Amino acid sequence: MFDSGVGGLSVLRAFRQLAPNERVIYFADTAYFPYGPRPAPEVRKRAFAIIQRLLESDVKLVVVACNTASAAALPDLREAFGIPFVGMVPGVKPAASRSTSGRVAILATPGTLDGDLFARVIDNFGRGTRITTIAGSGLAELVEAGQAGTPGAREALRGLLGPEVQAGADTVVLGCTHYAFLQDDIRAEFPELSIVDTSEAVARRAMQVLDEGGLRAPLDQEGELDLIVSGDRAQFRAIMQQLGFEPAPVEAQQ
Ligand code: DGL
Repeated sequence: MFDSGVGGLSVLRAFRQLAPNERVIYFADTAYFPYGPRPAPEVRKRAFAIIQRLLESDVKLVVVACNTASAAALPDLREAFGIPFVGMVPGVKPAASRSTSGRVAILATPGTLDGDLFARVIDNFGRGTRITTIAGSGLAELVEAGQAGTPGAREALRGLLGPEVQAGADTVVLGCTHYAFLQDDIRAEFPELSIVDTSEAVARRAMQVLDEGGLRAPLDQEGELDLIVSGDRAQFRAIMQQLGFEPAPVEAQQ
């Protein structure tokens, strides 16, 4: 699995619940965080470099636990490498069916909102729903800095989501894996708002792909987690623990 930082850990958590016996390598590309404002070719280049590294460890499946990297690179990765990929796209479909007001806010990075993948999903599933996209400026940065659950995080969410909620939106889609860690803040600020987070669905999809390929680990295998971090390892470990994850071995990598 990989992401620009701690965001994809939300997918990791869901996956480990389903498959505690699988061995997971999580690559946090914190030296290049944030991906959101970067041009797609830059993010694609990082994705390719990360996959090369993961393939050295003989991985059988890659979960692109990042909406921005999925938007920038997923089709190219699938074409270039002979292993299965599971990617992420904002959950427009579940949001459209869940909303009773017919008004949905999508919170994601600029890279995700600008991508073709997102345009296609809106086209396919967004008809009949009033969809407002909101670039979550600064939100992933707050999470990465360990500030989920702080008044600063709630203030940022108020500013970004408040106008849309006041205008009648009853559902918000978390279109960036970092935002999964802001769910308590969103609930505190907007108790009526329904939150669509796709991390569990992505974890289930990963299981399905493993099943279909006959790739599941033996049930008696002991699960393992290894971390590769391109930036500051101590900081990554600290935020990870703060988010409720057990410490795990961390390797450096550029
Ligand atoms: N977690 C990433 C995503 O799902 C993006 C965060 C960033 O901007 O690096 O889009």
